[in-house]
Amino acid sequence: MCGIVAYIGPRQASPILLKGLHRLEYRGYDSAGIAILNSELKLYKSKGKVSELEELLKGKDISGTIGIAHTRWATHGEPNDVNAHPHFSYSKNLAIIHNGIIENYSPLKSELIKRGYTFESETDTEVLIHLIEDIQLNEQVPLPEAVQIALNQVVGAYAIVIIDKHDPDTLIVARKGSPLVVGIGDGEFFVASDATPIVEYTREVVYLNDEEIAIISRNDELKIKTIANIEKTPYVQTLEINLSALEKEGFEHFMLKEIYEQPRSIRDSMRGRLNAQSGIVSLGGIIEYQQKLINAKRIIIVACGTSWHAGLVGEYLIEELARIPVEVEYASEFRYRNPVIYEDDVVIAISQSGETADTLAAIELAKSKGATIIGICNVVGSSIARATHAGSYTHAGPEIGVASTKAFTAQVTLLTLMALMIADRKGTISKSRYHQIINELDAIPAKVEKTLLVDDKIVEIARIFKDSRNALYLGRGYNFPVAMEGALKLKEISYIHAEGYPAAEMKHGPIALIDADMPVVVVATNKGTYDKVVSNIQEVKARKGTIIAIVTEGDETVKALADYIIEVPETEEMLVPLLATIPLQLLSYHIAVMRGCNVDQPRNLAKSVTVE
Ligand code: G6P
Repeated sequence: MCGIVAYIGPRQASPILLKGLHRLEYRGYDSAGIAILNSELKLYKSKGKVSELEELLKGKDISGTIGIAHTRWATHGEPNDVNAHPHFSYSKNLAIIHNGIIENYSPLKSELIKRGYTFESETDTEVLIHLIEDIQLNEQVPLPEAVQIALNQVVGAYAIVIIDKHDPDTLIVARKGSPLVVGIGDGEFFVASDATPIVEYTREVVYLNDEEIAIISRNDELKIKTIANIEKTPYVQTLEINLSALEKEGFEHFMLKEIYEQPRSIRDSMRGRLNAQSGIVSLGGIIEYQQKLINAKRIIIVACGTSWHAGLVGEYLIEELARIPVEVEYASEFRYRNPVIYEDDVVIAISQSGETADTLAAIELAKSKGATIIGICNVVGSSIARATHAGSYTHAGPEIGVASTKAFTAQVTLLTLMALMIADRKGTISKSRYHQIINELDAIPAKVEKTLLVDDKIVEIARIFKDSRNALYLGRGYNFPVAMEGALKLKEISYIHAEGYPAAEMKHGPIALIDADMPVVVVATNKGTYDKVVSNIQEVKARKGTIIAIVTEGDETVKALADYIIEVPETEEMLVPLLATIPLQLLSYHIAVMRGCNVDQPRNLAKSVTVE
């Protein structure tokens, strides 16, 4: 949700900033802008994607060794040139970029208007920079102090970088609720919303904490203090991201690359945690809190979007294997409905980005009630990873495509390991069954590899359904969340309306929609409630719906009924989501490409949702 990048050092800033914006574009892409200081403070911004900003910059002098840049996902004010960031202060001596929402911007703005200020944009950000400048002038304080005073008046979330026309040697940076990382190079500093624009220049980074202000001066050490004026020693961490993970590496889109990475990413999620030969599952990151999980009377899973779907699979896994009741909650609902939370509850928070505002708030709420919080995050060092008591990283590698793919299967893998670990320690599973599942889990990456071979067939199916206006996705048991995730993928990237439903629930409503124009995707693998799903397929057929079925290799029954079939390898019922999800990801991908949609950056969406 908005990407921030800034640079100060000996090099030209603009190439670093523009490349950084491209790397961060997945966070927001409705407008972009840049401000460079080189005796003059030049500011350019434009509606649309970073490439449109680059067009605008052609032929302009944007030389300078200090600058800030931003790619936006609009919250206040429509996406247009004026509302794009950076924003000037009233005198145009300061410029700011901001990610987050200033919730009390309206009273602050009214106060500033009374004092004679006028505003060019509709944004909360312009209010903040006017306020900072007002404090600077009226209270005659240096900029860092003015920022500190202003941030004490602000309610909401922010990651900001400010540049001052009269001080070409300093950037002022602060965060609360929205992420910010400072990269420390050799006599230079990089600032960004996440590490992706930084990694090619330096691996030494400092993640700012909430309510911290960093004063970044050319040729000096990084200084950090809190908005309560407490000095902090920067905690420098070394990044482990591989640069190639940030490139498309020959694939047409990041999403396709990430779908194809799943044999590896699932393997990485299990690495060092699953030893099939010795039959050991160990999750180092939660070892200190393992007993809490084992003893939990109830587990609550909080998440949003695709991560919530992974949570649903987790519910089935944990209840079946570990016999602990599980509730799966949308974080946004959980945080506002005064839920009953006990001290011996364990809350599992699932998040790819580790920055989702609602999930973060749900964690804080559960923490305040004394529950133990376990995180399942992909982004190392993210806010959620730091807010939880303990956790396991999914290690899927950077996910750049806005629609989540490999993060989902990595989350499900981790939840499977967690369920197995608890079940084994609790004794709710026999040793032989435990080993059976572990061996099968170990074989999953190879089966995912095999599943990917259906891609050519899916292209053909996609061609037939690319012009559909609606689609229904059905599944039961472990395949119900798979159906929901399949439908979400289709709507996210192809803009075709799709619904995921428990197959049996279809007759309580969606069946009314079925006619010859309605493609119905049924996940009908051969275990669990297979026979029941076959009956549901019959019900769809009787209404002339077109069936696309995901079946187990060698299936004959559904093959005889369905219009199109896609086969996945045989596996344990509880591991089917790791395979059956893959063809649904590919189906959405190819349909979206054929419809000419921007697969990696679908309209209106953002990868990291740092506003509620
Ligand atoms: C956004 C993304 C989704 C993601 C959801 C939750 O809506 O577009 O792909 O599933 O946020 O994000 P998280 O990072 O918490 O998993």
